[in-house]
Amino acid sequence: MTHAAIVGWGKCLPPATLTNADLSTFLPTDDEWIVSRTGMKERRISHVSGLEMSYVAAVRALACAGMKAEELDFIIYGSCSFDEHVPNSASGIQVKLGAHKAAAMDVNTACTSFLYGMSTATAMIKSGAAKKILVIGVEHISKFMDWQNRNVSVLFGDGAAAAVFEASEKEEGVIAQKLQCFADARQTLRVRGKGGAYANIGVQLGDTRWDFDGQEIFKKAVAGMSEGSLSVMAQAGVGIDDIEVIVPHQANLRIIEAVAKKAGATMDKVFLTVHKYGNMSAATAPVALVEALEEGRVKPGSLVLIPAFGAGLTMSAHLIRWGDRTTPKETTDIDLPPCNQTALEIVQGLMAHKMPHDRSEAALMSPKFIEQM
Ligand SMILES: CC(C)(COP(=O)(O)OP(=O)(O)OC[C@H]1O[C@@H](n2cnc3c(N)ncnc32)[C@H](O)[C@@H]1OP(=O)(O)O)[C@@H](O)C(=O)NCCC(=O)NCCS
Repeated sequence: MTHAAIVGWGKCLPPATLTNADLSTFLPTDDEWIVSRTGMKERRISHVSGLEMSYVAAVRALACAGMKAEELDFIIYGSCSFDEHVPNSASGIQVKLGAHKAAAMDVNTACTSFLYGMSTATAMIKSGAAKKILVIGVEHISKFMDWQNRNVSVLFGDGAAAAVFEASEKEEGVIAQKLQCFADARQTLRVRGKGGAYANIGVQLGDTRWDFDGQEIFKKAVAGMSEGSLSVMAQAGVGIDDIEVIVPHQANLRIIEAVAKKAGATMDKVFLTVHKYGNMSAATAPVALVEALEEGRVKPGSLVLIPAFGAGLTMSAHLIRWGDRTTPKETTDIDLPPCNQTALEIVQGLMAHKMPHDRSEAALMSPKFIEQM
Protein backbone atom coordinates (compact mmCIF):
# COMPACT_ATOMS: atom_id res chain seq x y z
CA MET A 1 0.00 0.00 0.00
CA THR A 2 1.22 3.49 -0.83
CA HIS A 3 1.61 6.10 1.92
CA ALA A 4 2.42 9.83 1.81
CA ALA A 5 5.65 10.52 3.69
CA ILE A 6 6.68 14.02 4.73
CA VAL A 7 10.18 14.31 3.24
CA GLY A 8 10.78 18.06 3.32
CA TRP A 9 9.83 20.98 5.56
CA GLY A 10 10.68 24.68 5.75
CA LYS A 11 9.37 27.89 7.31
CA CYS A 12 9.60 31.62 6.67
CA LEU A 13 9.02 34.12 9.46
CA PRO A 14 9.23 37.81 8.55
CA PRO A 15 11.75 39.54 10.84
CA ALA A 16 9.69 42.51 12.12
CA THR A 17 8.33 41.73 15.61
CA LEU A 18 5.26 43.45 17.07
CA THR A 19 5.28 43.31 20.88
CA ASN A 20 2.36 43.68 23.29
CA ALA A 21 3.90 47.04 24.29
CA ASP A 22 3.74 48.13 20.62
CA LEU A 23 0.02 47.22 20.50
CA SER A 24 -0.68 49.24 23.62
CA THR A 25 0.63 52.39 21.86
CA PHE A 26 -2.54 52.51 19.72
CA LEU A 27 -5.03 50.21 21.49
CA PRO A 28 -6.59 50.17 24.97
CA THR A 29 -4.74 47.00 25.93
CA ASP A 30 -1.67 45.92 27.88
CA ASP A 31 0.89 43.14 28.19
CA GLU A 32 -0.71 41.75 31.35
CA TRP A 33 -4.15 41.27 29.66
CA ILE A 34 -2.73 39.75 26.48
CA VAL A 35 -0.32 37.35 28.21
CA SER A 36 -2.80 36.21 30.87
CA ARG A 37 -5.73 35.71 28.40
CA THR A 38 -3.80 34.33 25.40
CA GLY A 39 -0.19 33.46 26.26
CA MET A 40 0.99 35.74 23.43
CA LYS A 41 3.97 38.07 23.89
CA GLU A 42 4.82 39.00 20.32
CA ARG A 43 3.95 38.25 16.69
CA ARG A 44 5.57 38.89 13.27
CA ILE A 45 4.41 41.49 10.74
CA SER A 46 5.44 40.96 7.13
CA HIS A 47 7.10 43.59 4.92
CA VAL A 48 6.61 41.34 1.86
CA SER A 49 3.66 39.57 0.22
CA GLY A 50 2.25 36.18 1.15
CA LEU A 51 3.70 34.78 -2.09
CA GLU A 52 7.21 35.94 -1.17
CA MET A 53 7.03 34.34 2.28
CA SER A 54 5.64 31.15 0.71
CA TYR A 55 8.36 31.03 -1.91
CA VAL A 56 11.13 31.15 0.72
CA ALA A 57 9.39 28.45 2.80
CA ALA A 58 8.90 26.31 -0.33
CA VAL A 59 12.53 26.58 -1.48
CA ARG A 60 13.65 25.60 2.03
CA ALA A 61 11.25 22.63 2.09
CA LEU A 62 12.42 21.41 -1.34
CA ALA A 63 16.09 21.68 -0.24
CA CYS A 64 15.21 19.73 2.91
CA ALA A 65 13.69 17.02 0.70
CA GLY A 66 16.63 17.11 -1.72
CA MET A 67 14.03 17.52 -4.46
CA LYS A 68 13.92 19.75 -7.53
CA ALA A 69 10.81 21.85 -8.19
CA GLU A 70 10.41 20.21 -11.63
CA GLU A 71 9.71 16.91 -9.87
CA LEU A 72 6.52 18.23 -8.23
CA ASP A 73 3.15 16.94 -9.52
CA PHE A 74 0.99 19.25 -7.44
CA ILE A 75 1.15 22.45 -5.37
CA ILE A 76 -1.48 23.23 -2.72
CA TYR A 77 -1.51 26.77 -1.28
CA GLY A 78 -3.44 26.99 1.99
CA SER A 79 -4.44 30.48 3.15
CA CYS A 80 -7.31 32.89 3.78
CA SER A 81 -5.30 36.03 2.99
CA PHE A 82 -4.44 35.61 -0.69
CA ASP A 83 -2.51 38.44 -2.35
CA GLU A 84 -5.05 38.22 -5.18
CA HIS A 85 -7.85 35.82 -6.06
CA VAL A 86 -7.40 35.49 -9.83
CA PRO A 87 -5.02 34.01 -10.81
CA ASN A 88 -4.69 31.70 -7.85
CA SER A 89 -1.68 31.93 -5.55
CA ALA A 90 -0.51 28.33 -6.04
CA SER A 91 0.19 29.15 -9.71
CA GLY A 92 2.30 32.12 -8.55
CA ILE A 93 4.47 29.77 -6.48
CA GLN A 94 4.59 27.30 -9.35
CA VAL A 95 5.94 29.84 -11.84
CA LYS A 96 8.47 31.26 -9.34
CA LEU A 97 9.74 27.76 -8.47
CA GLY A 98 9.76 26.63 -12.11
CA ALA A 99 7.63 23.60 -11.23
CA HIS A 100 6.71 23.15 -14.91
CA LYS A 101 4.73 19.92 -14.74
CA ALA A 102 2.76 20.57 -11.55
CA ALA A 103 -0.93 21.32 -11.11
CA ALA A 104 -1.71 24.14 -8.67
CA MET A 105 -4.65 24.72 -6.32
CA ASP A 106 -5.56 27.14 -3.50
CA VAL A 107 -7.35 25.89 -0.37
CA ASN A 108 -9.12 28.11 2.15
CA THR A 109 -10.39 26.58 5.38
CA ALA A 110 -8.90 29.50 7.37
CA CYS A 111 -6.52 28.39 10.15
CA THR A 112 -6.76 24.71 9.12
CA SER A 113 -5.93 25.35 5.43
CA PHE A 114 -2.48 23.69 5.51
CA LEU A 115 -3.97 20.70 7.32
CA TYR A 116 -6.84 20.25 4.85
CA GLY A 117 -4.17 20.58 2.14
CA MET A 118 -2.19 17.84 3.89
CA SER A 119 -5.25 15.55 3.86
CA THR A 120 -5.78 16.28 0.14
CA ALA A 121 -2.12 15.62 -0.67
CA THR A 122 -2.16 12.38 1.30
CA ALA A 123 -5.33 11.16 -0.47
CA MET A 124 -3.92 12.06 -3.92
CA ILE A 125 -0.67 10.22 -3.26
CA LYS A 126 -2.46 7.19 -1.79
CA SER A 127 -4.77 7.02 -4.81
CA GLY A 128 -1.84 7.18 -7.23
CA ALA A 129 -3.00 10.49 -8.76
CA ALA A 130 0.26 12.20 -7.73
CA LYS A 131 3.66 11.22 -6.30
CA LYS A 132 5.29 14.45 -5.10
CA ILE A 133 3.23 17.30 -3.64
CA LEU A 134 4.17 20.64 -2.06
CA VAL A 135 1.71 21.95 0.57
CA ILE A 136 2.00 25.52 1.84
CA GLY A 137 0.37 27.21 4.84
CA VAL A 138 0.75 30.98 4.70
CA GLU A 139 -0.93 34.07 6.04
CA HIS A 140 -0.37 37.78 5.42
CA ILE A 141 -3.17 38.56 7.81
CA SER A 142 -1.81 41.97 8.91
CA LYS A 143 -2.96 43.33 5.53
CA PHE A 144 -6.64 42.81 6.26
CA MET A 145 -6.57 43.08 10.04
CA ASP A 146 -9.16 45.26 11.79
CA TRP A 147 -6.33 46.98 13.65
CA GLN A 148 -8.50 49.22 15.82
CA ASN A 149 -10.43 46.22 17.19
CA ARG A 150 -8.50 45.00 20.25
CA ASN A 151 -10.66 41.83 20.40
CA VAL A 152 -8.88 40.46 17.32
CA SER A 153 -5.84 42.55 16.39
CA VAL A 154 -3.75 41.38 19.37
CA LEU A 155 -4.24 37.72 18.40
CA PHE A 156 -2.75 37.37 14.92
CA GLY A 157 0.56 37.48 13.07
CA ASP A 158 2.10 36.70 9.67
CA GLY A 159 4.20 33.73 8.53
CA ALA A 160 4.56 30.77 6.19
CA ALA A 161 5.65 27.15 6.13
CA ALA A 162 5.73 24.39 3.54
CA ALA A 163 6.03 20.61 3.46
CA VAL A 164 6.87 18.15 0.68
CA PHE A 165 4.91 14.88 0.55
CA GLU A 166 6.17 11.87 -1.39
CA ALA A 167 4.85 8.38 -2.10
CA SER A 168 6.38 5.76 0.19
CA GLU A 169 5.83 2.05 0.70
CA LYS A 170 6.49 2.43 4.46
CA GLU A 171 3.61 3.23 6.81
CA GLU A 172 4.39 6.89 7.47
CA GLY A 173 2.80 10.31 7.05
CA VAL A 174 -0.86 10.76 8.05
CA ILE A 175 -2.10 7.48 9.58
CA ALA A 176 -5.41 8.78 11.04
CA GLN A 177 -7.44 11.93 10.58
CA LYS A 178 -10.73 13.61 11.39
CA LEU A 179 -12.05 16.62 9.51
CA GLN A 180 -15.29 18.40 10.36
CA CYS A 181 -16.94 21.80 10.06
CA PHE A 182 -19.28 23.26 12.70
CA ALA A 183 -21.05 25.39 10.11
CA ASP A 184 -23.88 26.42 12.46
CA ALA A 185 -21.27 28.61 14.17
CA ARG A 186 -19.85 30.12 10.96
CA GLN A 187 -21.05 33.61 11.96
CA THR A 188 -18.79 33.60 15.06
CA LEU A 189 -15.84 34.68 12.90
CA ARG A 190 -16.53 36.78 9.81
CA VAL A 191 -14.26 39.29 8.07
CA ARG A 192 -16.61 41.92 6.70
CA GLY A 193 -15.34 43.88 3.72
CA LYS A 194 -13.45 41.06 2.03
CA GLY A 195 -15.10 39.41 -0.97
CA GLY A 196 -17.54 40.09 -3.78
CA ALA A 197 -20.48 40.62 -1.39
CA TYR A 198 -18.93 43.96 -0.48
CA ALA A 199 -18.00 45.08 -4.00
CA ASN A 200 -19.54 48.27 -5.40
CA ILE A 201 -21.23 49.30 -2.14
CA GLY A 202 -18.69 51.91 -1.05
CA VAL A 203 -16.26 49.68 0.80
CA GLN A 204 -12.62 50.69 0.47
CA LEU A 205 -10.38 47.84 -0.70
CA GLY A 206 -8.46 46.34 2.22
CA ASP A 207 -10.72 47.93 4.82
CA THR A 208 -12.28 45.29 7.05
CA ARG A 209 -14.34 44.88 10.21
CA TRP A 210 -14.14 41.57 12.03
CA ASP A 211 -17.19 40.00 13.66
CA PHE A 212 -15.72 37.83 16.39
CA ASP A 213 -17.33 35.87 19.22
CA GLY A 214 -14.15 34.77 21.00
CA GLN A 215 -15.84 32.92 23.84
CA GLU A 216 -18.05 30.83 21.55
CA ILE A 217 -15.09 29.97 19.31
CA PHE A 218 -13.06 29.11 22.42
CA LYS A 219 -15.65 26.57 23.59
CA LYS A 220 -16.10 25.00 20.14
CA ALA A 221 -12.33 24.87 19.60
CA VAL A 222 -11.70 23.04 22.89
CA ALA A 223 -14.52 20.55 22.24
CA GLY A 224 -13.63 19.96 18.58
CA MET A 225 -9.87 19.68 19.02
CA SER A 226 -10.09 17.34 22.00
CA GLU A 227 -12.76 15.10 20.42
CA GLY A 228 -10.72 15.04 17.20
CA SER A 229 -7.59 14.08 19.14
CA LEU A 230 -9.35 11.21 20.92
CA SER A 231 -10.89 10.09 17.62
CA VAL A 232 -7.58 9.80 15.72
CA MET A 233 -5.93 8.00 18.64
CA ALA A 234 -8.85 5.51 18.66
CA GLN A 235 -8.66 5.08 14.86
CA ALA A 236 -4.95 4.24 15.12
CA GLY A 237 -5.38 2.11 18.27
CA VAL A 238 -2.87 4.19 20.26
CA GLY A 239 -2.97 5.99 23.60
CA ILE A 240 -1.62 9.37 24.64
CA ASP A 241 1.57 7.73 26.01
CA ASP A 242 2.39 6.51 22.49
CA ILE A 243 2.46 10.08 21.19
CA GLU A 244 5.85 11.80 21.18
CA VAL A 245 4.66 15.37 20.72
CA ILE A 246 1.41 17.31 20.24
CA VAL A 247 1.74 20.21 17.78
CA PRO A 248 -1.60 22.03 18.05
CA HIS A 249 -2.99 25.07 16.28
CA GLN A 250 -1.94 27.99 18.50
CA ALA A 251 -4.82 30.48 18.87
CA ASN A 252 -4.69 30.73 22.65
CA LEU A 253 -2.52 29.03 25.32
CA ARG A 254 -5.65 28.41 27.44
CA ILE A 255 -7.32 26.54 24.53
CA ILE A 256 -4.20 24.40 24.12
CA GLU A 257 -4.04 23.64 27.87
CA ALA A 258 -7.72 22.62 27.92
CA VAL A 259 -7.31 20.38 24.85
CA ALA A 260 -4.20 18.72 26.31
CA LYS A 261 -6.04 18.03 29.58
CA LYS A 262 -9.06 16.51 27.82
CA ALA A 263 -6.77 14.37 25.66
CA GLY A 264 -5.00 13.13 28.82
CA ALA A 265 -1.67 14.82 28.07
CA THR A 266 0.58 16.92 30.29
CA MET A 267 1.89 20.19 28.84
CA ASP A 268 5.43 18.84 28.51
CA LYS A 269 4.12 16.78 25.57
CA VAL A 270 2.89 19.93 23.80
CA PHE A 271 5.06 22.03 21.48
CA LEU A 272 4.35 25.76 21.85
CA THR A 273 4.99 28.75 19.59
CA VAL A 274 2.01 30.89 20.67
CA HIS A 275 4.16 33.16 22.89
CA LYS A 276 6.40 34.26 20.02
CA TYR A 277 4.22 34.14 16.89
CA GLY A 278 0.60 34.42 18.12
CA ASN A 279 -1.95 32.90 15.72
CA MET A 280 -0.63 32.85 12.14
CA SER A 281 -3.81 31.12 10.95
CA ALA A 282 -2.87 28.63 8.18
CA ALA A 283 0.87 29.01 8.89
CA THR A 284 0.57 28.20 12.60
CA ALA A 285 0.57 24.39 12.68
CA PRO A 286 3.18 23.89 9.92
CA VAL A 287 5.56 26.50 11.40
CA ALA A 288 5.22 24.77 14.79
CA LEU A 289 5.86 21.38 13.16
CA VAL A 290 9.02 22.69 11.46
CA GLU A 291 10.27 24.14 14.76
CA ALA A 292 9.43 20.92 16.64
CA LEU A 293 11.68 19.12 14.12
CA GLU A 294 14.43 21.73 14.39
CA GLU A 295 14.40 21.44 18.19
CA GLY A 296 14.57 17.63 18.17
CA ARG A 297 11.05 17.12 19.54
CA VAL A 298 10.19 14.77 16.64
CA LYS A 299 12.26 11.57 16.56
CA PRO A 300 12.51 8.93 13.83
CA GLY A 301 9.27 6.90 13.97
CA SER A 302 7.54 9.37 16.36
CA LEU A 303 3.78 9.76 16.47
CA VAL A 304 2.83 13.45 16.13
CA LEU A 305 -0.70 14.67 16.95
CA ILE A 306 -1.94 17.89 15.30
CA PRO A 307 -5.38 19.15 16.46
CA ALA A 308 -6.62 22.43 14.94
CA PHE A 309 -9.60 24.65 14.21
CA GLY A 310 -10.38 27.74 12.16
CA ALA A 311 -13.12 29.99 10.85
CA GLY A 312 -16.04 28.10 9.38
CA LEU A 313 -15.71 26.70 12.06
CA THR A 314 -13.45 24.07 10.53
CA MET A 315 -11.86 21.43 12.73
CA SER A 316 -9.12 18.92 12.03
CA ALA A 317 -7.05 16.35 13.88
CA HIS A 318 -4.20 14.41 12.29
CA LEU A 319 -1.99 11.67 13.62
CA ILE A 320 1.33 11.46 11.76
CA ARG A 321 3.84 8.64 11.90
CA TRP A 322 7.19 10.29 11.23
CA GLY A 323 9.72 8.57 8.94
CA ASP A 324 13.41 7.81 9.51
CA ARG A 325 14.75 11.28 8.74
CA THR A 326 14.28 14.29 11.01
CA THR A 327 17.05 16.48 9.55
CA PRO A 328 17.22 18.23 6.16
CA LYS A 329 18.99 16.55 3.23
CA GLU A 330 20.21 19.92 2.00
CA THR A 331 19.98 23.53 3.12
CA THR A 332 19.74 26.79 1.17
CA ASP A 333 20.77 30.35 1.94
CA ILE A 334 17.59 31.85 0.43
CA ASP A 335 16.00 34.55 2.60
CA LEU A 336 13.58 37.44 2.46
CA PRO A 337 14.89 40.86 1.45
CA PRO A 338 15.89 42.96 4.49
CA CYS A 339 13.17 44.89 6.28
CA ASN A 340 13.95 48.55 6.96
CA GLN A 341 10.87 49.31 9.08
CA THR A 342 9.83 48.27 12.57
CA ALA A 343 6.70 46.15 12.89
CA LEU A 344 4.93 49.09 14.52
CA GLU A 345 5.82 51.32 11.55
CA ILE A 346 4.42 48.71 9.12
CA VAL A 347 1.18 48.52 11.14
CA GLN A 348 0.90 52.31 11.35
CA GLY A 349 1.26 52.41 7.56
CA LEU A 350 -1.53 49.84 7.17
CA MET A 351 -3.82 51.79 9.51
CA ALA A 352 -3.15 55.07 7.69
CA HIS A 353 -4.83 53.65 4.58
CA LYS A 354 -8.05 52.66 6.37
CA MET A 355 -11.15 54.75 6.73
CA PRO A 356 -11.95 55.94 10.27
CA HIS A 357 -13.93 53.22 12.09
CA ASP A 358 -17.16 55.26 12.33
CA ARG A 359 -17.18 56.28 8.63
CA SER A 360 -16.69 52.82 7.15
CA GLU A 361 -18.92 51.01 9.67
CA ALA A 362 -22.09 51.77 7.72
CA ALA A 363 -20.63 50.66 4.40
CA LEU A 364 -19.33 47.50 6.02
CA MET A 365 -22.69 46.31 7.30
CA SER A 366 -23.07 42.87 5.79
CA PRO A 367 -25.48 42.62 2.88
CA LYS A 368 -28.72 40.97 4.11
CA PHE A 369 -28.12 37.67 2.34
CA ILE A 370 -24.86 37.22 4.24
CA GLU A 371 -26.32 37.93 7.66
CA GLN A 372 -28.89 35.21 7.10
CA MET A 373 -26.11 32.65 6.62
C1 LIG B 1 -10.41 36.23 22.30
C2 LIG B 1 -10.11 35.70 23.68
C3 LIG B 1 -8.62 35.75 23.95
C4 LIG B 1 -10.81 36.57 24.73
O1 LIG B 1 -10.54 36.05 26.01
P1 LIG B 1 -11.74 35.99 27.08
O2 LIG B 1 -11.16 35.51 28.34
O3 LIG B 1 -12.83 35.16 26.46
O4 LIG B 1 -12.09 37.50 27.23
P2 LIG B 1 -13.54 38.16 27.11
O5 LIG B 1 -14.01 38.03 25.71
O6 LIG B 1 -14.35 37.58 28.20
O7 LIG B 1 -13.21 39.66 27.42
C5 LIG B 1 -12.97 40.06 28.73
C6 LIG B 1 -12.84 41.57 28.76
O8 LIG B 1 -11.59 41.93 28.15
C7 LIG B 1 -11.81 42.93 27.17
N1 LIG B 1 -10.82 42.78 26.11
C8 LIG B 1 -10.95 42.12 24.93
N2 LIG B 1 -9.80 42.21 24.25
C9 LIG B 1 -8.95 42.95 25.01
C10 LIG B 1 -7.62 43.38 24.84
N3 LIG B 1 -6.91 43.08 23.73
N4 LIG B 1 -7.06 44.10 25.81
C11 LIG B 1 -7.73 44.42 26.93
N5 LIG B 1 -9.00 44.03 27.15
C12 LIG B 1 -9.60 43.31 26.20
C13 LIG B 1 -13.21 42.70 26.68
O9 LIG B 1 -13.72 43.89 26.12
C14 LIG B 1 -13.91 42.30 27.97
O10 LIG B 1 -14.22 43.48 28.68
P3 LIG B 1 -15.59 43.59 29.50
O11 LIG B 1 -15.54 42.49 30.52
O12 LIG B 1 -15.51 44.96 30.09
O13 LIG B 1 -16.68 43.41 28.48
C15 LIG B 1 -10.61 34.23 23.80
O14 LIG B 1 -12.01 34.19 23.86
C16 LIG B 1 -10.15 33.37 22.67
O15 LIG B 1 -8.98 33.03 22.59
N6 LIG B 1 -11.04 32.92 21.77
C17 LIG B 1 -10.75 32.05 20.68
C18 LIG B 1 -9.60 32.50 19.82
C19 LIG B 1 -10.00 32.63 18.41
O16 LIG B 1 -11.13 32.68 18.08
N7 LIG B 1 -9.05 32.71 17.50
C20 LIG B 1 -9.34 32.88 16.11
C21 LIG B 1 -9.83 31.68 15.42
S1 LIG B 1 -8.55 30.58 14.98
